[in-house]
This record gives sequence, C-alpha cells and structure tokens, in this order.
Amino acid sequence: MNKTKLLIDKDYTIAPLGKRLYSTFVEHLGRCIYEGIYEPGHPTADKDGFREDVRALVRELNFGALRYPGGNFVSGYNWLDGIGPKASRPTRLDYAWCSIEPNEIGIDEFCDYAKSVGSEVMYAVNMGTGTPQDAGYIVEYANFPSGTYYSDLRIKNGHKEPHGIKLWCVGNEMDGPWQICHLDAHDYGKKALETAKIMKWADPSIELCVCGSATSFLPTYPEWDRIVLEYVYDKVDYISLHRYYENRGNELDFLASYHEMNEFIKTVAATADYVKALKRSKKTMMLSFDEWNIWYQAKTELKKWEFAPHILEDNYSLLDALSFGGLLCTLINNSDRVHIGCLAQMVNVIAPIFTEKGGKAIRQTTFYPFAMAANNCLGTALRSIGKPPMLDSALYGQVSAIPHAAVWNEEKQDINIIFTNISEEQQHIELDLRSFGKVKMTEHQVLSGDLSASNTLEKPDRIKPTFMDCPGAETEKPEITLEPKSFNFFKFSV
Ligand code: AHR
Repeated sequence: MNKTKLLIDKDYTIAPLGKRLYSTFVEHLGRCIYEGIYEPGHPTADKDGFREDVRALVRELNFGALRYPGGNFVSGYNWLDGIGPKASRPTRLDYAWCSIEPNEIGIDEFCDYAKSVGSEVMYAVNMGTGTPQDAGYIVEYANFPSGTYYSDLRIKNGHKEPHGIKLWCVGNEMDGPWQICHLDAHDYGKKALETAKIMKWADPSIELCVCGSATSFLPTYPEWDRIVLEYVYDKVDYISLHRYYENRGNELDFLASYHEMNEFIKTVAATADYVKALKRSKKTMMLSFDEWNIWYQAKTELKKWEFAPHILEDNYSLLDALSFGGLLCTLINNSDRVHIGCLAQMVNVIAPIFTEKGGKAIRQTTFYPFAMAANNCLGTALRSIGKPPMLDSALYGQVSAIPHAAVWNEEKQDINIIFTNISEEQQHIELDLRSFGKVKMTEHQVLSGDLSASNTLEKPDRIKPTFMDCPGAETEKPEITLEPKSFNFFKFSV
C-alpha cells in the first residue's frame, strides 16, 4: 500500500487567516437579489421582504464580507436610484445583463442585510459611467457621521448611524471589453488614482481595492496590473483578481484548476512586487480574489429585458464541488498575499444556494466544502511538507493528486485540514503532527459518490457530507484514508 507522509508543524506558518478569505458576492444580476435574498410575499419573508429561509443558509456559510452591488452591473449603476422611499425609486434598464432593475434594494437595505448575517460590506463604486466625485459622495453617504448633504440624506433615509463600510472596490473589471465604458490601463489607472484620493479624503480609514485583471487569459494580463499599480500603488491596499473555471471535457484538467489559480496568484503577486521595487516602497500590496468559482460560461445565455431573469443558474455536480475544493485549498495556501476571497456569487447566480420562487431554498454541492472551510479553517494557515502523489494533467503538467490546506486554530486548540483527492485511487496518508503533541481526530466529513450527481429542488439532499467514525486513539501521527475522487474535512483536537 502506497502511503504519503505529510509533516504539518505549528512553526511552519503561512499567515494568519481571517473571515475575509471566506467572503462572497451579491450582484444585481438574475435572481441573486430578487427571488434570492429578497422576495416580499414569500412565506418566510420578514417585514422588509428578505427571505428568512435564505438568510438561515447564508448564516451557515459564515461569510466574511458581501461584495455589492456588482460586478458588471455596477459600471452603469447610479447609486442614488437605490436610496429614499421605494415608491419613488426609478425602474431602469440594466445594460450589463439586459435586465429590468426596479431598485427596490440599495445601499441602505443591503448594509442592514449584511449586518443581520454577521458580515461586513465590500462596496464597489462605478468606474464606468460613474465619476470620481460620485465615488466620494457615496463614501460620504455611507460613512460620514452627519452635517453634510449626503450624510444628512442618509440620516433622513432612516440611518442615523453611519454604515461604516471599510472595504471598497474602485470599479469592476475595467480591463474587460464587455464592461460598460471599459477603459485602457492608463485611463483606468489615472481615473482610479483620482478616485482613490477623493474616497480616502472622505474617509481616511477605508481600504481600497483597485481592479486587476478580470481573468488570466485576457491579452492585457499581466501588463494591465503593472500599469495600473504604477499609478495607484501608494493610494490603494489591494489589487483584485477574478477567475472562473469550467469542465471543458478533460476531467483531470478541470480538477487541477487549483494549479492555474495558484499560478495566477503568484504572477499578480510578483507583478505587484516589481512595482513595489520600482517605487522603493515599503508597502506590500495585498491581493483580493474577489470573484472565483466554477462557472459554465460557455452555456450562459442572456434574456432580453426581463425582471429577475433565470440567468447564470448553474447546477453544480459533485465533480464541480471537488474542483471547487481544490480552489479553496489554493486560497488558504496563499493567505500570506490573498487577504480577501469572494465566492461569486451568493444565491442563484453561480451560487452555493438555490431558491424557488415562493418555495424552497436548497444547498448546492459547492455549499459543503465552503461551509466546512469557512466555519473551521480560521486561525493560522500552515505549510505542509512531503511528497504528494503526482498526476499528469494535459494543461498543467504534473499536479498533486491531493490538494490540501491546514489551519491551526490556537484559541480552540484544533487543527483543521481539507483534502481533495482528485485521483482514481484511495490515498493513504500519514500525518506527522508531532509539534502539537498527541492529537485526537474529532471530525471527518466526506463528500464522495456519483460525480455527475447534483442537488435539485426535487432531490435537495442527493449530495451531502457523510460524517465518518473517528478513531478514539490519541497519536502524534494519525493515519487517514481518502476515497477516490472525494472531498474531506478533518478536525484534530490537541
Ligand atoms: O459574476 C458574474 C460576472 O462575472 C460579474 O458581473 C463580472 O464582474 C464577471 O465578469
């Protein structure tokens, strides 16, 4: 029997890791908001129209931040349309998704919602049709205490206390030719710099994230990142990365997507470090991977001018959840640079939660790996040392068959490890945890089975984790087995 030895030592740290790595994204797109989190008239709707059944699932995912309101949507959005009495808010054409936008939800309702699920808001300003001045006004509206036009307007609209939004995106995917009022790197760099100055004057305590490459396969990558950072390096705190993966027919390549995500992160970090050197700066730029997921983009079809259209409603298989599990490992293993990670998106639109109008809310397959990581893998990410079995992928060459990530929670005195076995074989692993002394396995959850199976409204629990029996023994070197093509979560108590 082949056994892999992995040493995980409490002194071999990557970085402290907090809730922000497990953030998400809520866009005015399809049924993410309307019929997703918000559906007045639904049997579980609260007095403001938010679905309690969805809210309960959102809470299970323990999100750090909710990125809002877009996405492509934000590049044509006038935030003033979404404040004040609902009856007088305009209905607009949303050019990004060819939809009808009634503006029933805006910044005030959304900030209240985020609070109710224990998350902070990451607010994106419009760098398409919007101006640097608009961006300053919205910071003033959200965060300035009182006594100015926009802060007093917020108070008039029922929010005496500022929303106190800390995280702000300076636009969305401005390198993408699909973006409303797309810019080239120099034009965006200049606009982002002037916008950042105004936003930080309005509230110096905020953290700003500038648009990096919308994906690693655009021809402008990574020159875009370099040029933009040369303009804004001193004024911003994060550069964004976005990347979606899909199964294009070669299963191993798809399961090895985590490898490409790792390369992408390393390249953007290296680009940022080049600019750091050029500027003789002492600051290291952090990364915000604020859109990532599995998305069957090739199958996406838009509808024309509908309200809450059924678009981007991917139904995830177990295979998708396994590839997704590898991506989670990559984010954790890069937590020294990636401080924010937003699973795009939260409900219905390429999401872990799916809803039926007037009916149920269910967990997709991807819900489970995310929930296991977001609720347990908090603390200090640890590097593992060993020689994992390798597989030969067509796209990326040799890749590990067992992408994994380990997090030490000192407060709770437990070690939390996620493993995806992307190989066809059982994998036997001896974990060397001796730096912790004797440990005891207290939890082992597994996702495995029919790789093509998914959860649907009719069969919502087809794929869900199995809780395995844990051996009672205390040991410094626990041995574990991973079933072929499975996602696993282990907890060891020290
Ligand atoms: O998440 C869906 C879309 O993907 C977002 O609106 C956009 O930012 C990205 O291209």
